[in-house]
Amino acid sequence: MSAIPTDRSPDSTLAFLRTGYRFIGERCDRFGTDIFQTRLLLEPTICLRGRPAAELFYDNDRFVRRGALPMRAQRTLTGVGGVQGLDDATHRARKAMLMSIMTPAAIRHLGQLVEDEWHARIPVWAGAGPVVLYAEVGRILTRAVCAWAGVPLADSEVARRTDELHAMIDAPAALGPRHWRGLLARRRAERWADELIRRVRAGDLPAPEGAALRVIAEHRDEHGALLPRRIAAVDLLNILRPTVAVDRFVVFAALALHDHPQWRDRVRDDAGAAERFVQEVRRYYPFFPVAAARVRRSFEWQGYAFPLGRRVLLDLYATNHHPRLWPEPERFRPDRFAGGPADPFSLIPQGGGDHLAGHRCAGEWLTIELMKRAVATLTGAMSYQVPPQDLALDLGRMPTLPPSGLLIDTVRRTR
Ligand code: HEM
Repeated sequence: MSAIPTDRSPDSTLAFLRTGYRFIGERCDRFGTDIFQTRLLLEPTICLRGRPAAELFYDNDRFVRRGALPMRAQRTLTGVGGVQGLDDATHRARKAMLMSIMTPAAIRHLGQLVEDEWHARIPVWAGAGPVVLYAEVGRILTRAVCAWAGVPLADSEVARRTDELHAMIDAPAALGPRHWRGLLARRRAERWADELIRRVRAGDLPAPEGAALRVIAEHRDEHGALLPRRIAAVDLLNILRPTVAVDRFVVFAALALHDHPQWRDRVRDDAGAAERFVQEVRRYYPFFPVAAARVRRSFEWQGYAFPLGRRVLLDLYATNHHPRLWPEPERFRPDRFAGGPADPFSLIPQGGGDHLAGHRCAGEWLTIELMKRAVATLTGAMSYQVPPQDLALDLGRMPTLPPSGLLIDTVRRTR
């Protein structure tokens, strides 16, 4: 058996937070492997990238999720007790419930709600100066996903709830105020979601059949019991929060249209080109850096020992940029997807493997639909200018965005 190449620093947590998306990839390059070990949050941690590593990581016989995600991420991003930390039969039952919300008709319905909200905003932007696309799309998505999920939301609440959902996503890898904002936002949002679940169960709040709020409030676990209200609240936020997070991919899609204007006509006129463009945006731009698991029982892989309980990180970003999987990985080239559907262990911005059996993102199809609608709207329903601004992405910040949130101006409705 070989020793896993090891980064000898006493603890690399600060280096990880500073280096950001490049932390694992740079060290893999240095060691000439797709695996190394380091200490993160004072614990020995195995870091992996690449297709064989992704296939290993999504093998439920080898890994569990219980206790895998650091508490700082659970207390801000995911919440405690949600689907992300479950294993085996409990995970399968909860995941099946969440996936039952994602029917093709329901996905189209949310797509239509987003498009309607967006079209209603175009005349407002047309009369304004520069607008921040990230903030505007965030509010559009908050309104639409709440309406879709059966969650009542007054106009006066939209900005506050959007800010809370944004703060949770921005917090897990941050130190200081950005992290504290995420903690506070989660506490507030969980109280809100808990009260919604209580009202549905009490019969005070009618939610349409099949809508996320109703499905989650009425879900019974594998023993026939309703979920504790706090847990149901966490999983309701597991639908609302990441749907609003699609605004980051929408900003990246707008950035890609700005940097590669030759794609504007193609994505507007050709559904296949739009699909390839959206896939390349998901591959190329950085969002979730890693996924985390723990070794279920000791095993050996490629001559390396994985001891029981060891935390393992799979680098999603470095796998999406792996030179053996993606020729010229640092070039934005949608036509690399012309050969057909992407491999489930190579394109992994939202996790890999199977949606129902594993932890792959429950909202991946929804994300793709919303991105296609956004790209169609940006190229077909409005014209706009991108004024001079700093559009550089800081890869040391997780998650990252252009510092301006992408300003657009001179907006006009075109149909
Ligand atoms: C903005 C785009 C999104 C990105 C980049 C993203 C990314 C991810 C990633 C990396 C995971 C973890 C995979 C793993 O642990 O192996 C995940 C899980 C999850 N995502 Fe997403 N996601 C997005 C949108 C959504 C949407 C729109 C929804 C729901 C409406 C959603 C719901 C979930 C849920 C419930 C899980 C947990 C699945 C499980 O543990 O079984 N996500 N997502």
